[in-house]
Amino acid sequence: MCGIVAYVGGRPAAPLLVEGLRRLEYRGYDSAGLGVIQGGKIATRKCAGRIDALAARLAEYPVSGTVGISHTRWATHGPPTDANSHPHFDASGRIAVVHNGVIENCAELKRLLEGRGHAFASETDTEALARLIGEFYTEAGEKGEAAFLIALRAALRRVVGAYGLAVLCADCPDTVFGARRGSPLVVGLGRGEHFLASDVNAVVAHTRDVIYLGDGDLVALRADGFEAARLDEREAKIEVHRIEHDAGAAEKGEFAHFMLKEIFEQPQTLRNALRGRFNTEDATSVLGGLNMTAHELRRVDRIQMAACGTSWHAGLLGGMWIEEFARIPCEVDYASEFRYRNPPLGSGTLFVAITQSGETADTLAALREAKRKGARALGICNVVGSSIAREADGGIYLHAGPEVGVASTKAFTSQVVVLALLALHLGRLHHLSALEGARLLRELEAMPGKIERVLARSEEIRRIAARYKDAASFLFLGRRFNHPVALEGALKLKEISYIHAEGYPAAEMKHGPIALVDEKTPSVFLCPRDGMYEKILSNLEEVRARRGPVIAVATEGDDDLAKKADAVIEIPEAPDPLVPLLGNVALQLLAYHTAVALGRDVDRPRNLAKSVTVE
Ligand code: M6R
Repeated sequence: MCGIVAYVGGRPAAPLLVEGLRRLEYRGYDSAGLGVIQGGKIATRKCAGRIDALAARLAEYPVSGTVGISHTRWATHGPPTDANSHPHFDASGRIAVVHNGVIENCAELKRLLEGRGHAFASETDTEALARLIGEFYTEAGEKGEAAFLIALRAALRRVVGAYGLAVLCADCPDTVFGARRGSPLVVGLGRGEHFLASDVNAVVAHTRDVIYLGDGDLVALRADGFEAARLDEREAKIEVHRIEHDAGAAEKGEFAHFMLKEIFEQPQTLRNALRGRFNTEDATSVLGGLNMTAHELRRVDRIQMAACGTSWHAGLLGGMWIEEFARIPCEVDYASEFRYRNPPLGSGTLFVAITQSGETADTLAALREAKRKGARALGICNVVGSSIAREADGGIYLHAGPEVGVASTKAFTSQVVVLALLALHLGRLHHLSALEGARLLRELEAMPGKIERVLARSEEIRRIAARYKDAASFLFLGRRFNHPVALEGALKLKEISYIHAEGYPAAEMKHGPIALVDEKTPSVFLCPRDGMYEKILSNLEEVRARRGPVIAVATEGDDDLAKKADAVIEIPEAPDPLVPLLGNVALQLLAYHTAVALGRDVDRPRNLAKSVTVE
């Protein structure tokens, strides 16, 4: 979704801003713009379309200056047009704002401003905010930083909704102002320069020392220092964090796409998720970040998870493991539904939010709702310092490094592995024997090597994808632990190839979806030799009887199955609960190669954003 990059220092701002915006391209956007302090005024360039279009405009009409703000927009109020692109200005043209988030009382603010004679140049909510700040600033009758901060506070107090803001005022030519409520902002601390961005990836090439702003924080950044305050006048909590990864981690390197790079990173990211988390002596996992004692964990009698998209699929699988290993009932909701469902949350309920970005609006709202009702809330997040990581009572980081491809791949694998560690931890405090715990640890340790064996089949999978790429629809079918992977395989295929796909529990197919089966509709069966093998083979026969092409994800060496399927993707043997991880990597590659064969924009599929920060 929208991205913000701002700079104040000694270097020309415009090239740094454009470079930072490019690092946020993966989040999805439809227009771009910037504003730079130049000769006591704010020079702006902005346009609908890609960052290349903005760069071309800058090449034709350059701007110079060392203080600036910039933005990539993902349209919410008004279509992607030059006029709706950020920055937006107040009536005097001396205050410029770039904004992530949605101002919910925008209609009311616009009415108020129109009553005072304002004529809007755009359809955005952001322009209303810029004009409101300008109103308060003019009313103050004074100029300079102190008066501007008073005006900014006054305007923000009138705003209902979410924002991450970078603001310029031409009367304060050495300062970039920032404010956050509900939409992430991070300050990058350089030598003689500072950055403000909505995502650390925009600044990591310049500095790895950052401050994650909290909700209600305001900052005034100058080249040689900064001040932080809070909207509610309390003291701002400022902590400097060191980013673990370097800029290279968010670059494609030798790979054709970020998605492919991230699929191939999985053996390593999995090792990172497991590192330091094994306690072999007690046959359990070490999860210090939970911030809960063994006594508290033993009193958990119900688990409620909430997540969206791929993270929800990870939750489904994790929930099954928790019930299997720890015998604790576990419910997994779409976060968007959970937040309005009013479920009973007793004192024994542990709430778990699962999210790669840590910023998904529905998941954040679900976490807040669970906390409001007294549940202890954990966050399973990838992005360090994200809103959910900060607001949760405890949690587990994935350590998967930046995931840039819009289609989540390595984060899913790390999420499920971390959930396996949580299930093991709870299991060992409840019902799981030491022998079973030790076996699970050994099997988890073996997973990166087994994933490498699936990755080695990428070329075979590419050939299968080429055969079926023109199908109009796919079915993905699995049973028990493989059901969430069937759902995830279907999601992956549809989001990047735009082919319609449905995931189903294989036996449920008879109750409706089997009507879709014909000789042009491939069914992808997840049928490793596990406890459900015989059962799913019957379902596979039902599809074959109706001339449906079958792509089987099967255990290595399953020659019987090879005779029944039109195409086979082999995966190594693994225990029933963990085998879905391997099938999932195979399906990631199937979706990837299909999308490439169809010439799709794999890393930036249409209509999608990496991090969905609006409801
Ligand atoms: O950052 P989150 O894990 O909270 O994101 C949730 C979904 O938006 C995300 O998984 C989405 O479904 C991906 N595009 C799937 O590939």
